[in-house]
Amino acid sequence: MKHPLFAAAALAASLMMGQTAMASECKVDVEDPFDLDAAAVDEIYDCIKATMAESYAKEGDEVAVAYRDWTVTSTRPAVAGAHGNRLLQTFANDIAAEQYLKFADEGVVMPAGSVLAKESITISTKKKEAVTGPLFIMTKGETGSSPDTGDWIYAGLQPNGKPMKFKQSFCHDCHVSWEAQDMMAYPLEEVRVSN
Ligand code: HEC
Repeated sequence: MKHPLFAAAALAASLMMGQTAMASECKVDVEDPFDLDAAAVDEIYDCIKATMAESYAKEGDEVAVAYRDWTVTSTRPAVAGAHGNRLLQTFANDIAAEQYLKFADEGVVMPAGSVLAKESITISTKKKEAVTGPLFIMTKGETGSSPDTGDWIYAGLQPNGKPMKFKQSFCHDCHVSWEAQDMMAYPLEEVRVSN
């Protein structure tokens, strides 16, 4: 029998090593992310989810440290095409959740203070593995606060926790296609949580 202290030390070491080892162990065996079935996606997510949340939170960003406690809006991550063919999973904060989960298609007005955080997983078919992609964030301000973008602020964090740099129009020019839904594009229908 192993000495309990030895076992504990080995476990601690493997947990620490796990941080770096895990990222490269999330193997995928498809050529095209659209070919992933639900079981394969679940397996990838189980493998990568702890590392993801940790990576986003590295710089202490207030959304990054909190979003996993928010309401998850899909049953699993899914590939929608937009956002670089990544696997996407959106979380809604308490202010946003009730309205967002209606997945309403017209006359939507998300309350000020709504925050949607969407984690993403890049499927590198070349390396045959899943790696953490950016955390995409939308925050709704008070009426009139950002007239060019329907009062939304678009933001993003790189997997190292640092902010991404882009023009608001880069995100908004696409999200404005869902103007009747207050710019919310929603997850793919097949993975929306029922409410
Ligand atoms: C080419 C179109 C396109 C562009 C550009 C784009 N998005 Fe999206 N976005 C989508 C689609 C489609 C979805 C819903 C798909 C999904 O999440 O499964 C979405 C969903 C989101 C969500 C979840 C809330 C929602 O709409 O349901 C956030 C947050 C988000 N995008 C942020 C951003 C940010 C930040 C940028 C700019 C860096 C950006 N998006 C650029 C198409 C786009």
